[in-house]
Amino acid sequence: MRTQVGIVGAGPAGLLLSQLLSLQGIESVVLERRSRDYVERRVRAGVLEHGTVQTLREAGVAKRLDEEGLVHDGLNVRFAGHTHRLDLADLVGRGVTVYGQQEVVKDLIAARLDAGGDLRFEIAETALHDLDGQRPRITFVEKDAAGELDCDFVVGADGFHGISRQHVPGRTEYEHTYPYAWLGILADAPPALPEVVYARHPRGFALHSMRSPAVARLYLQVAPDEDLAEWPDERIWAELRRRLGDDEGFRLTEGTVLDKGITPMRSFVSAPMQHGRLLLAGDAAHIVPPTGAKGMNLAVADVRLLSRALGAFYLGGRTDLLAAYTETALRRVWRATHFSWWMTSMLHRAPDENPFTERLATAQLDWVVSSRSMATALAENYTGLPYEQDW
Ligand code: FAD
Ligand code: DHB
Repeated sequence: MRTQVGIVGAGPAGLLLSQLLSLQGIESVVLERRSRDYVERRVRAGVLEHGTVQTLREAGVAKRLDEEGLVHDGLNVRFAGHTHRLDLADLVGRGVTVYGQQEVVKDLIAARLDAGGDLRFEIAETALHDLDGQRPRITFVEKDAAGELDCDFVVGADGFHGISRQHVPGRTEYEHTYPYAWLGILADAPPALPEVVYARHPRGFALHSMRSPAVARLYLQVAPDEDLAEWPDERIWAELRRRLGDDEGFRLTEGTVLDKGITPMRSFVSAPMQHGRLLLAGDAAHIVPPTGAKGMNLAVADVRLLSRALGAFYLGGRTDLLAAYTETALRRVWRATHFSWWMTSMLHRAPDENPFTERLATAQLDWVVSSRSMATALAENYTGLPYEQDW
């Protein structure tokens, strides 16, 4: 079997790349380890930057996003008993859209299949070969039969636990793990406020978000080795009530828990993001902690760059954009890595917190909500910095 671009992984990065390439007349095949049902149900990110929404529109997959996505022109920061709203639209002239990652994935899968795209699920034993030459290959097992895909390029969009990154020799891996994790729930309960709330509390961080006017998404800071079995629903609600409470009478709306999980928190960057004819995109090359919701947005920014670089190669014979891919992508990655680390450190309670570090964190938050320049800096990053290179 032969294609132009072989893509490993049907997460947001792999699927969107396949769609953006197909719009330029470039063929691809996407190989995914999990089932279609599994990838469409995996509950993860939910906040889309302004540019991500634009990119999904350009990709022709934003019909449902435009109908059902919740446009937020502000966000709330809660600490020391008070809630402060940052007016994103007023600060930077743009907001964010709340729309679940699994909905983006469903829309992309539907669009690819409608257009006759080649997406293969439940693929085992994916292996990459000949990445240094002009004809890299992917071997795999599909329904117990061996398969082989000859490509011009291989894109590793196979997430943090994928196999692609290991094929970049001499790479440098930068890593930071945080001394906490997030316990997240999806609840059949109307969100208590129309915009996201980031809360710093002496008992730890809490986040109130949503997926629709009827479904809330909530997170609690927990220990990195926390056992989910120790958290029956009532304990989760009690902790959320405590940490999200304020002096202004905020009341959480509660309901049936639809999904529950623990997310470890780490920052990770692997450089370079390419080797020979292998290009990495999204979580395969970098991870940010979820505070600030940058993970999926970075994956989209990577494939936007890649689709333009591959387009310039196939349609214009240019190799300069491909050669510059790592450098261009990493500039945005490091900005988001810093932003996510900053948001995370400012809003969480470190296990070794003491009265001094607690006051410093509060002073920092106070600065963010009272200084227009600090609020603007947060808003610029949160809503997404403009793409550097739009060819
Ligand atoms: P992924 O979505 O991980 O997709 C990679 C795909 O590759 C997967 O479908 C995987 O099954 C497949 N794959 C892996 N190995 C192979 C192989 N060998 N062969 C074939 N296929 C393979 N971000 C936020 O912004 N906010 C959040 O609240 C948030 N919560 C998260 C919760 C969890 C539990 C996790 C894991 C991530 C979360 N993120 C969050 C991060 C965000 O979801 C990711 O940044 C985003 O999914 C990256 O997309 P991707 O396509 O690069 O990778
Ligand atoms: C959500 C996730 C985030 O990481 C965040 O910063 C805000 C909202 C969410 O899942 O809705």
